[in-house]
Amino acid sequence: MSMPTEVRARAAALIATERLRFADRHPLSRQMAANAGEHFPGGVPLHWMLDWETPFPLFVREANGSTVTDIDGRRYADFCLGDTGAMFGHSPAPVARAIAEQAQRGLTAMLPSSLTAEVGTLLASRFGLPFWQVTATASDANRAVVRWARALTGRRKVLVFDGCYHGQVEDAFVKLEDGETKMKPSLLGQANDVAQTSVAAPFNDLDAVERLLAAGDIALILTEPALTNTAMVLPEPGFIEGLLAAARRHGALVCLDETHTISAGPGGFTRAHDLAPDFFVLGKPVAGGLPAAVFGFTSAVEAAMRRVLETKTPGYSGIGTTLSGNMLTLAAMRACLIEVMTGDAYAHMTALASRLADGLRVGVAKRQLPWTVTQLGARAELVFSTRPLRNGAEAAAAIDHTVERAIHLFLLNRDVLVTPFHNMTLVAPSTTQADIDKLVHNFDEALGLLCGEKEIAA
Ligand SMILES: Cc1ncc(COP(=O)(O)O)c(C=O)c1O
Repeated sequence: MSMPTEVRARAAALIATERLRFADRHPLSRQMAANAGEHFPGGVPLHWMLDWETPFPLFVREANGSTVTDIDGRRYADFCLGDTGAMFGHSPAPVARAIAEQAQRGLTAMLPSSLTAEVGTLLASRFGLPFWQVTATASDANRAVVRWARALTGRRKVLVFDGCYHGQVEDAFVKLEDGETKMKPSLLGQANDVAQTSVAAPFNDLDAVERLLAAGDIALILTEPALTNTAMVLPEPGFIEGLLAAARRHGALVCLDETHTISAGPGGFTRAHDLAPDFFVLGKPVAGGLPAAVFGFTSAVEAAMRRVLETKTPGYSGIGTTLSGNMLTLAAMRACLIEVMTGDAYAHMTALASRLADGLRVGVAKRQLPWTVTQLGARAELVFSTRPLRNGAEAAAAIDHTVERAIHLFLLNRDVLVTPFHNMTLVAPSTTQADIDKLVHNFDEALGLLCGEKEIAA
């Protein structure tokens, strides 16, 4: 799986020249970074926005469909799509219309509205779970699910997979180290050791899961159907089904977090594979880019929740935030579910993602690089491994930040945006064949430089 050393050395050289090129071509972004930096550290309202390889942030003037225009007037074909928040394009017209209309009629009231019943029906019929709640972020949805699962089962522990990410949920900040669960040292400001109440298992290892469940203290298995927040790991056939069956046997609940795997199809991986989890989470793009997430659950879970609520000590539950489920969000979600996340949109996205994956494969095969390209519906991902990855440890070994960053920065300087901390490329309903061809062409150019076919110009 190792990266050819000369490729990595050229990647470092490429990053250096591309950073200069970026600085040269973005005078207004440079100025804006200085202005914004007076009150926002690094010039950004969220510190992750500094994770791009650029010497200062790229400032956006406008984003529409699959095109982002920066304040220097450069137009980009966007395959980052807000790290899935804008997976269905920037400002999809039906969502923008719904927001504008609802904005005249109230934004938030801490009351349900005339839209609530309809949105519930839309969620239930699309994803197959009868009951739903709305939160402001996927992190909040996962946190709520963790809390509910503990309250319903009376058990303390959460099982997650090594290499996972589920947002700000502390319980998921664990990893496997020599077979033992450890809290991730990167987690800031954490007072309690979450490894006391969370266990990590290797993905695609049902025996390991079964052993952990046998202790009888697991409240919830929280997982994505495929690990998407490391180098992409797809589930082996029968793994998720086996997981659901094992959890049921041992009295644990299962939540499938589809925040990224919604790329698999209009009903996510869950519907595409006819799965029946206890909880289902979808965040980011579900309201077309407005902050929103949903979690769904079974009738059995709903009945157990009611029992818990009826008998609980009066006072705050620790589940919910004030603006969750507000009227504006529901209006956007309704439009997104009915008019944007359509079967036709997915057919277009998936077909173009296949074209993209094939195009990337040609560049890799031409140079016999030890890499593969994985596709999950509307998402194509370059993986630095010759064979599909099996678990988080293999995925971690396959990540090469230098090569990844060199490719991303080279693409950005050719007006193509790819998310900085992933090797994923997302295709939106608004993505065109020309966008795909532009990415594939420039990826091939980048590989040419990394493989020494051309000199890296100083
Ligand atoms: C699988 C998964 N779940 C949850 C989240 C958290 O989403 P948010 O940052 O919107 O809370 C993410 C974010 O990347 C994610 O990838």
